[in-house]
Amino acid sequence: MGIVGAGPAGLILSQLLDRAGIDSVILENRDREYVTERVRAGLLEQATADLLDELGLGERMHREGLVHQGLYLRFAHQTHRIPLSELTGGRSIWIYGQQEVVKDLIEARLAAGQQLHFEVADVSVHDFDGDSPRIEYTHEGERHVVDCDVIAGCDGFHGVCRPAIESALTIHNHEYPFGWLGILATVPPSTDELIYTNHERGFALHTMRSPELSRLYLQCDPHDDITNWSDDRIWEEMHHRFETDDGWQLNEGPIVDKGITPMRSFVVEPMQHGRLYLAGDAAHIVPPTGAKGLNLAVRDVRVLAEALISFYADNDSSLLDAYSATCLRRVWRVQHFSWWMTSMLHLIGDADDFEHRLQLAQLDYVVSSTAAATTLAENYVGLDKV
Ligand code: APR
Ligand code: PHB
Repeated sequence: MGIVGAGPAGLILSQLLDRAGIDSVILENRDREYVTERVRAGLLEQATADLLDELGLGERMHREGLVHQGLYLRFAHQTHRIPLSELTGGRSIWIYGQQEVVKDLIEARLAAGQQLHFEVADVSVHDFDGDSPRIEYTHEGERHVVDCDVIAGCDGFHGVCRPAIESALTIHNHEYPFGWLGILATVPPSTDELIYTNHERGFALHTMRSPELSRLYLQCDPHDDITNWSDDRIWEEMHHRFETDDGWQLNEGPIVDKGITPMRSFVVEPMQHGRLYLAGDAAHIVPPTGAKGLNLAVRDVRVLAEALISFYADNDSSLLDAYSATCLRRVWRVQHFSWWMTSMLHLIGDADDFEHRLQLAQLDYVVSSTAAATTLAENYVGLDKV
């Protein structure tokens, strides 16, 4: 098995295959430090956390991660709690940074002496229309070839695998007219659970990484330059957006990382062509409002691993043939949930007051109807059956 990309998709796929005795080689074009230090989201669905445990990789998550049974929705300067676990038969979410998950997976892979090549260059995929696909790459100045049965394109949105089959794909792309300015601050979180805020100045989210490390986001112009945002300006805007009528206080502290990310909803169909299978960000992007990116990548590779295990064990390719259709049902469910959360919580630039009132009516319904709150909760913690 050839796997391109050592993000969560590629690394978890390799673990699932290894557990079934299937060898794989992972090719990653960045160095180890880059892939383990880049700050990304940090929310795990119950099923993702359970899988890390199943793979024997949950120890540090349990030691350093945070379990949440609820979240807050804040609008019209009022705060409302959504009791996620109560509404979903006891399921929770984990706050554990994506880069921590990647660190644990890489450590496990290297400790087991399995193949993972960092800093490869000029990766290209070939002959995946036939029965003997191959990957070519350069490493330490030498050109190498991996002959494999199947190629897994886990190389993210900017990888080489999707472009290699783009002519056979239908692309759905929706860009949002706003982005997120995210910060990491060495200050204890001002809340025990996440706060999603709809405010007339724009969306804001208070999340965290640990009892000492806060992570916060605010809606901004996606084309803005982070140098326009001094730390003082960021905190001032955060105070505005999180303000309540009950005197709730936001803790300020040193900002150790900040950046602006654009937002899009993106899906390609199908997610396979010949013996090349796309998983994770290589096939789809969701806006981060539902914290689904990592969790959706994990769901994809669970389906792909099960299909490959059946292919190798019984020479049965029926699950492989159904891979795309199986994944896309969940991909569109998660796309809809992420778009719905994004539309309900963000200031839509050209929206008139009527549309803003509709947002508030939607939010009011979600916090006052058990049925509506359950819809949010079950999608947020992760639907089991889709
Ligand atoms: N050759 C080899 N590796 C590549 C190439 C290439 N040409 N292009 C990209 N990569 C690597 C990237 O450096 C990255 O480490 O592929 C990996 C893809 O990982 P992710 O982008 O993390 O994608 P994925 O594993 O699908 O995980 C999805 O990541 O971006 C978050 O929000 C997203 O949480 C979601 C998760
Ligand atoms: C995060 O912790 O980075 C995070 C949490 C929830 C989101 C997005 C990001 O919806």
